[in-house]
Amino acid sequence: MSENKPVVLLAEELSPATVEALGPDFEIRQTNGADRSQLLAAIADVDAILVRSATKVDAEAIAAAKNLKVIARAGVGLDNVDIKSATQAGVMVVNAPTSNIISAAELTVGHIVSLARRIPAANGALKNGEWKRSKYAGVELYEKTAGIIGLGRIGALVAARLQGFGMKIAAYDPYVTAARAQQLGVQLMDLDELLASSDFITIHMPKTPETLGMLGADAFSKMKETAYVVNVARGGLIDEAALYTALKDGEIAGAGVDVFVSEPSTDLPFFDFENVVVTPHLGASTEEAQEKAGISVAKSVRLALAGELVPDA
Ligand code: MLT
Repeated sequence: MSENKPVVLLAEELSPATVEALGPDFEIRQTNGADRSQLLAAIADVDAILVRSATKVDAEAIAAAKNLKVIARAGVGLDNVDIKSATQAGVMVVNAPTSNIISAAELTVGHIVSLARRIPAANGALKNGEWKRSKYAGVELYEKTAGIIGLGRIGALVAARLQGFGMKIAAYDPYVTAARAQQLGVQLMDLDELLASSDFITIHMPKTPETLGMLGADAFSKMKETAYVVNVARGGLIDEAALYTALKDGEIAGAGVDVFVSEPSTDLPFFDFENVVVTPHLGASTEEAQEKAGISVAKSVRLALAGELVPDA
């Protein structure tokens, strides 16, 4: 009888592999976690909740969940989960820290190539009947400098991929040792030096009070006028108003943005610039990443609800 089974709530669209990996021992329910009232009603009596980034599992949601034992984030970032409230309520929080790192790194490279070769703008123009070869001339990546802010798992994968284009790689990361940087073939430097010397700047940091607005007016003023900036990590790492001003004043050459302060966002002022490429938080949206994330958190939920130790992924 299903009423005796622990209840697992899927609050966002997850790979079918998630349900398969959970197996038959759970009652699976679905809700739209982005809809606050649906979430608060649905979470009330479940044992576990599985989310991506659109569901805010905050103090209010945790307080509404009288039976909750596990919050599972099918992805890397935990900024939509109130870990402190969860810990106080005795609720375990698990994520899938390596599930989508390749996908995020590949999308970063996609943004960089799109900006350098103006692919989205040229595509839009041609489909509009305009054959404009000189208007959409671009730049090569070869021998240019990529500045990577945050040389963690994703930053390191981006470095390796951009080295394949013959780019020089600079990185700012106070937690990375010189030996690790040398192993990756990356030149560590301080942030100001990276901002001033890079042709393509890509940020791969978590969202914390310290990193919010890290790329703001001051940072843009230090960049080359020919520099491109990419954020596939977290909305808010780039100050969106400052980005608009930097683009308007020609302080930078363009930007690729996948994540936004408020999501969904469909009409921000900087979307109007032709040298801006935007995507709707697609870093982890590949079949492979979603399958890996779903299977990983399903296994963690199974172990946690069985009272077993959940290993670090
Ligand atoms: C992440 O933090 O891993 C991504 O935001 C995942 C997602 O898009 O669900």
